[in-house]
Amino acid sequence: MKNILILPGDGIGPEIMAEAVKVLNVANDKFDLGVELSHDDLGGAAYDRYGVPLADETLERARVADAILLGAVGGPKWDTIDPALRPERGLLKIRSQLGLFGNLRPALLYPQLAAASTLKPEVVSGLDILIVRELTGGIYFGQPRERKVLDNGERMAYDTLPYSESEVRRIAKVAFDMAMVRNKKLCSVDKANVLASSQLWREVVEEVARDYPEVELSHMYVDNAAMQLVRAPKQFDVIVTDNMFGDILSDQASMLTGSIGMLPSASLDAGNKGMYEPCHGSAPDIAGQGVANPLATILSVSMMLRYSFNEVAAADAIEQAVSLVLDQGLRTGDIMAEGCQKVGTVQMGDAVVAALKNL
Ligand code: NAI
Ligand code: MG
Repeated sequence: MKNILILPGDGIGPEIMAEAVKVLNVANDKFDLGVELSHDDLGGAAYDRYGVPLADETLERARVADAILLGAVGGPKWDTIDPALRPERGLLKIRSQLGLFGNLRPALLYPQLAAASTLKPEVVSGLDILIVRELTGGIYFGQPRERKVLDNGERMAYDTLPYSESEVRRIAKVAFDMAMVRNKKLCSVDKANVLASSQLWREVVEEVARDYPEVELSHMYVDNAAMQLVRAPKQFDVIVTDNMFGDILSDQASMLTGSIGMLPSASLDAGNKGMYEPCHGSAPDIAGQGVANPLATILSVSMMLRYSFNEVAAADAIEQAVSLVLDQGLRTGDIMAEGCQKVGTVQMGDAVVAALKNL
C-alpha cells in the first residue's frame, strides 16, 4: 500500500486538489498502484479548525505517510492574525520538520503553449530546465529574526541568512545527481560577491563537484541569473540555488513556460519521502470561481509517482494525458490563446481523466 496524505489547503487549493485526486484515482485503477488516500488540513484551513497552521496530529500523519500531496496555503483572510500562526508558517514547518530540503522545480515549455509565454517563441521553444532549490535553510528559517521599535521611535526589522556546510553539501549533491541523469550541466546561483553565506555556498559546491567530474559546473550571481533567464533561458539545464533565490527565480522561470499554473514541484528528504505541490500559491484573486488551472497539481501527482514510488509508466502516462488535452486545444484562462477552447478547473480535470483512461 502507498499511503498518501492529501492536504488541499486554502484558496484554489481545494479546487485544484479535487482534480488531481480524480487523476490519481484513475492512475491507481489503471496501473494497480495500491494507493490509499487520507485527508487533513494545512495553513489557513488548519488555523480555522485547530487554531494552528500545522497541528501536531497532522504532522504525525505526514510523518507516517509515504508521500504528501499539497494544494496551496494562505490568503487575505489570515492577514491580520498573529504572524507566527500565519498559514505560510505551517507550510515552512512541515517542510523543515520532515527534512524536505531538496526542492525540484522543473520549468518545461509544452510545445502547445509556445504562444502562451510572454517571451518570443524562439527564446523559449524547447525549454526544459530544472531549478533545484534549497528548501529548509537560509533566510526563511534563520534566527534571529525580529521586528522592534528603536528608542527614537523608528520601526526596524531584520532577518538572518545562515547556511552550514552540510546544508549546502546535501543540496549540491541532489543537483549534481539530477545533472548526471539530464545533460551534465549545472549552474550554481549565489550572491558570493556580497554575502558570506554565498561565499561558503560556492566553496562547498566546488568541493562536491570533485565527485562529479563529468558535470560541467558554472557559477552565476543571482542578479545576472535573473537577467539571463529572460535573455537566453536555454543556456541553462540544472540550476541549484538557495531558498530565497530559488523561490524568486522559479516564479520567474514559470513565466517562460506560459503560466505558473503549469509548474509542479517535488520536495524531497534524504530518503525517498516527498511532498508534492504546485509552485503557485492559493491565488485568492480567483479562488472559488472554478477557473484555476489544475495542471500544475496534476503534474505534481506525476512527480510523486516518479520520485517517491518509481511508478514510471503511470507518471509518464499522466504527463502524456496532459499533453493530449493541450493538443485538443483546451485551455484554462491563464494559458488561453486564440483559437483554443476556454475551460474551467473541473472541465480541465475531466479532460485529463478521459485522456488517461483512453491511453
Ligand atoms: P499566487 O501564486 O497565489 O498567485 C499569483 C498569480 O498567479 C495570481 O494572479 C493568481 O491568480 C495566478 N495563479 C496562481 N495559480 C494559478 C493557477 N493554478 N491557475 C491560474 N492562475 C493562477 O501568489 P500570490 O498572489 O503572491 O500569493 C497568494 C497567497 O498564496 C499568499 O497568501 C501567499 O503567501 C500564498 N502562497 C502560497 C504558496 C504555497 O502554498 N506553496 C506559494 C506562494 C504563495
Ligand atoms: Mg514562491
